[in-house]
Amino acid sequence: MDQYSVLGNPVQHSKSPLIFRLFAEQTQQALQYSATFVDREGLADALASFQSQGGKGVNITLPFKHRAVAAVDSLSERAQRAEAVNVITFNEDGSRLGDNTDGVGLVRDILINKRFSIKGKRVLILGAGGAVRGIIDPLFSENPTELVIANRTESKAVALAEEFSDVGLIQACPLDLLENNSFDLVINGTSASLQDEMLDLPGSILKENALCYDMVYGRGMTPFLRWAKEQDALFCVDGLGMLVEQAAEAFYLWRNVKPDTQPVLAALNATMPMNLESSAAPL
Ligand code: ATR
Repeated sequence: MDQYSVLGNPVQHSKSPLIFRLFAEQTQQALQYSATFVDREGLADALASFQSQGGKGVNITLPFKHRAVAAVDSLSERAQRAEAVNVITFNEDGSRLGDNTDGVGLVRDILINKRFSIKGKRVLILGAGGAVRGIIDPLFSENPTELVIANRTESKAVALAEEFSDVGLIQACPLDLLENNSFDLVINGTSASLQDEMLDLPGSILKENALCYDMVYGRGMTPFLRWAKEQDALFCVDGLGMLVEQAAEAFYLWRNVKPDTQPVLAALNATMPMNLESSAAPL
């Protein structure tokens, strides 16, 4: 049977093995998918070992997404732009292709699962680290009216906005200068939720019917989502749908079959401590 795995540290609570098992059952694909704990400095060895055992591909999760760029022979354009790899395909000739499906996963979750159109909307991205690099192009391709990157360290937001200026006008600002702006879609791409930390955000930056999206999952109401609720955001969602959608795109790359993500997302939601799924947003 074809073997796949997710490589991470930590990885024991990863939902990927369940997601890929459900995709495989649904599409009747014969494959096995495991979770592999990798030592902090052990990515190269783990990849070589899995590949030498006949593995067909791997997903890469924290903290290895950036380091995986140097561990492949070629990169898709979106992985190059993101400077991060979350899926590697081991080709027949032994070469490795690195790709990044996180951005497309986020946008599909927002558009399809949350039924929230990005076109013509004012979008705010919080953070300017590795997680944010991969979502700028896919968000821009949905034609928002405005894209603002706000970061605690302003210089990083400015650098990122400049680097991606070929796709269109992106504004950059520090978190504490967000006041007097208002947004339809606010995406938390910082790592603050992972440490249970709140960002220094002003109130009243949300437009009516705003969607607040935290890219982390499985943490219930993060400080960012609690803030969003306090601001009366109409929709507060976590990154579980993004996880399922980026996995579906990886499954498609490997198997050339598109799984139906809806039942898988529903099954995963049922396993979560707190169901954050809000009802469908208007288009
Ligand atoms: P990742 O790869 O997960 O994006 P990263 O590259 O280390 O991790 O970036 C973390 C991001 O979260 C940065 O934008 C960071 O802000 P700074 O550039 O100012 O460090 C942001 N971040 C983390 N904790 C934060 C907090 N408590 N408040 C505001 N921003 C925070």
